[in-house]
Amino acid sequence: MEQQKKQRVLSAIQPTGMPTLGNYIGALRNWKAMSDEYDCAYAVADLHAITIRQDPKELRRQSMEMFAVLLAIGLDPEKSIIFLQSHVNTHAQLAWLLNCYTQFGEASRMTQFKDKSRAHAENINVGLFTYPVLMAADILLYQAHYVPVGADQKQHLELARDIAERFNGVYGKVFTLPEPFIGTVGARVMSLQEPNQKMSKSDANPRAYVSIMDTPDQIMKKFKSAVTDSDSNVRYAQGKDGINNLMCIYSACTGKDFAAIEREFECKGYGDFKTAVGEAVVDELRPVQERVIKLLDDKAYLEDCAKMGAQKALRIGGRTLDKCMKKIGFWQMRVQKYSRLT
Ligand code: TRP
Repeated sequence: MEQQKKQRVLSAIQPTGMPTLGNYIGALRNWKAMSDEYDCAYAVADLHAITIRQDPKELRRQSMEMFAVLLAIGLDPEKSIIFLQSHVNTHAQLAWLLNCYTQFGEASRMTQFKDKSRAHAENINVGLFTYPVLMAADILLYQAHYVPVGADQKQHLELARDIAERFNGVYGKVFTLPEPFIGTVGARVMSLQEPNQKMSKSDANPRAYVSIMDTPDQIMKKFKSAVTDSDSNVRYAQGKDGINNLMCIYSACTGKDFAAIEREFECKGYGDFKTAVGEAVVDELRPVQERVIKLLDDKAYLEDCAKMGAQKALRIGGRTLDKCMKKIGFWQMRVQKYSRLT
């Protein structure tokens, strides 16, 4: 019997900085969950990382680490396509083509560009400006139906759709129009110090976020110093941002719903609750940490996996790029114009 083709999912994460507990609960765990139901491609977005100046040694180390993290969270390199963006040259090639189908005005409206230009006033490079076009290329190359993204990337995804629609309007159906996929549970983990702001790895205060590689001791300390409120009941309510956030984290790590959590801590104080949340996070991250350490110790295996991912990505993305170039009117020779990994 013919197997029904699964729909494709694509997402990517920048390698700069270890992912936080927020990235893990809000994004990476969903990547894993989706990998059974969908045909998934996940990239380490190292090309995007250089829109901000990077130290070469650090970039290399962090890219490898992020790749190891993707394997450590349980993604299967045989089943899903897991790769580094810079290993797959079709990304930069399609990005150039799409640049010519993107209006200066629409790229100028991207709020992340405005924010990053303000944050890096000394290096407002053109790459930072066309960053969302490269992201559109990442997505459109694989004809992705769904793109799991955080709220901060939604505008970029809408731009990718606009570019795809414009291109299809001129040349016929070349690209699948991607839809955002916003996770449900634990989609937004907040800062432990300012719980009305998203948990971020670039926070100046390291107590505000938990890195997925923090030691149990560090994790417990961070939860014990988490900001709460002057009430003393563990319950989910408006105005209790700190407790609400801890309840979300606890729920994500234990599978318990809010009602069950409220019952569990009915006669207990915040101190007990914070300890329980810290312990649940330690338990949740332990197996991931163990696998990351093991993987980083086996560079040959990591490289084999990266090569397998890049080959699969090139094959799929190459077809889209070929089609797109043909439509535009490039002279296509019978030999492939872009080099493939062997
Ligand atoms: N820009 C995304 C971020 O910083 C990462 C990214 C790059 C991405 N390419 C992508 C996300 C394609 C989804 C799809 O979070």
